[in-house]
Amino acid sequence: MVVIPVISSKGGVGKTTIAANLATTLAARGRQVLAIDLDPQNALRFHVANDPHHGGEEGLLAAAAGQLPWTQAMCPAHGGVVLLPFGTVDDERLIGFEHELSRRPGWLGDTLTRFGLPPDMLVIVDTPPGPTVYLQQALRAADVCVIPVLADAGSFATLPIVERMVDKYCRARAGYRGSAYVINQVDPGRRLNHDVFAMLRVRLQQELLGVLHLDASVSEALASALPVRHYAPLSQAAEDVSVIAERLLARLASPLPSSAQAFAPRQEPTR
Ligand SMILES: Nc1ncnc2c1ncn2[C@@H]1O[C@H](COP(=O)(O)OP(=O)(O)O)[C@@H](O)[C@H]1O
Ligand SMILES: [Mg+2]
Repeated sequence: MVVIPVISSKGGVGKTTIAANLATTLAARGRQVLAIDLDPQNALRFHVANDPHHGGEEGLLAAAAGQLPWTQAMCPAHGGVVLLPFGTVDDERLIGFEHELSRRPGWLGDTLTRFGLPPDMLVIVDTPPGPTVYLQQALRAADVCVIPVLADAGSFATLPIVERMVDKYCRARAGYRGSAYVINQVDPGRRLNHDVFAMLRVRLQQELLGVLHLDASVSEALASALPVRHYAPLSQAAEDVSVIAERLLARLASPLPSSAQAFAPRQEPTR
């Protein structure tokens, strides 16, 4: 299996949106996709599940506690994706689970290995913002990280937080295929957006996977509980996600970088 967490140091940058739409677009390319919601917000289901109310109660957390079989915690999602929702839980159970995760840093990787998934299966993992136990778990299991950033000064300034986490948990590991940045909510009409976009391109270099334009179809699709490619197949956003998915598949098909290359320090921006 190929584990692809969608991560960021900030909230509201499009992690869940990109996780959901990447999952359905990759499935449309004929790939088997498991989408895991590793965010207690439990919102991935609203974007992809055939029945968004499934996983309202039971999900990953209940299965992890042995209360139901893993297969029962999973549910069918749009385009043939299989979704493992987080589930809804009270604060005490959540704190207990997080404590368990900090005690067992390899829990996610071990659990996925026990699933015995096919080697080419893509596992997209949605995560909460910032340095959390969920992010640590996802990074330890990651083959490639998808990192949405907004073309604004705040995103630019907080880039080092997520970069340090990736350096710590992923880059030194043989098999890590590097980070795949997606600049989200790009609006070519806004001057500042244009300037930050130019700086991000310089900074991210070959790790920039693509852009997702600011597009009303994205939020409209969410309101209709549909992936963008189903809600508005001809939209800019659907086209952008197709390009991103294609490039991600190309990255996965290319030879593995040596760990020395994967760990190569990023060049600082020239201005
Ligand atoms: N490219 C886009 N165009 C328009 N709206 C977007 C776009 N990307 C994300 N959004 C909207 O931004 C909000 C935050 O996105 P979300 O995926 O929930 O972020 P995160 O998971 O990082 O917190 C949502 O309302 C979503 O519909
Ligand atoms: Mg989210």
